[in-house]
Amino acid sequence: MVSHSIEDLLKARMSLQQFRRHSASPYHERYSFPFLRGTYFAYRKIDVLRLVSIAKAVSNNPRYLDVGCGYGDFLKKIREFIPCAIGIEKDASIFYIFNIPKPDFIKIADAHWGIEQKCDIIFVGWMDPGEDFRDAVAAKTNVIVTTLDQGISMAAEFDAHGFEMIASWRTPSWEDVNTEIMNRYYTKMSNSVLQTLYKIRGAHNLWYVYSNKPKISETIKSALVQRVEEEKKLLNERYDFEDVLDECGFRYLERLESLADEQCLWDIQFIH
Ligand SMILES: C[S@@+](CC[C@H](N)C(=O)[O-])C[C@H]1O[C@@H](n2cnc3c(N)ncnc32)[C@H](O)[C@@H]1O
Repeated sequence: MVSHSIEDLLKARMSLQQFRRHSASPYHERYSFPFLRGTYFAYRKIDVLRLVSIAKAVSNNPRYLDVGCGYGDFLKKIREFIPCAIGIEKDASIFYIFNIPKPDFIKIADAHWGIEQKCDIIFVGWMDPGEDFRDAVAAKTNVIVTTLDQGISMAAEFDAHGFEMIASWRTPSWEDVNTEIMNRYYTKMSNSVLQTLYKIRGAHNLWYVYSNKPKISETIKSALVQRVEEEKKLLNERYDFEDVLDECGFRYLERLESLADEQCLWDIQFIH
């Protein structure tokens, strides 16, 4: 969804209500209706904890900002660990059209000029193609984490803005998961066709961690290395909706045949 016309949002809401009548799981809607019920990038609790550990490596009391946070699904999870984390969202109509109270921790502002304070970390989760506010983001922080949909999102890379990539990992996008859900639960097809399609499932969401200060980069790297050790010991620390990811073949450290590189899902690649 690039810009949310009121008509588009109303249509999406009606489709969601229809979907709920036949839905095979209460967790499917977050992948089939990502803007209304989830996020464009599919995440697990380990992603939340990775971001929290990056933020806390930079500051004991980090100023965390989520730019283009929508309804704040991911931001709310971050706030369980960083209660003062805030978001900005350009489009106020997403709240008033459905009479959804806008939480105080989401400010209606345009990222181009609305990031008022310097932040310890700015998260930009899946930006609409055509949007480019990298200058504004880069001016207000030393640490940026982005997620982008390979082949669809643009203007999400900060290498040309004085930042160096420190680490990256891959997860599915909402569309990757939605395709699997639709094939598995909502489309009649033979088992062999299902298996063939399953083999070509993709995972197109990339997470990039950037900093523009070598010392901070080193601190973040150490924090992530430690985090990975911890997350392997605590694999039952998870959200209920992660079962859908497992069922659809997007398991922690799963390798997908369709991907040219050797990178397993959620495996962190350190750069430099
Ligand atoms: C594709 S949605 C992603 C929402 C959420 N981050 C997620 O992953 O589900 C992009 C969001 O960014 C908002 N947005 C787009 N341009 C923006 C800008 N210049 N400043 C603030 N928010 C913006 C849109 O209104 C929309 O809610």
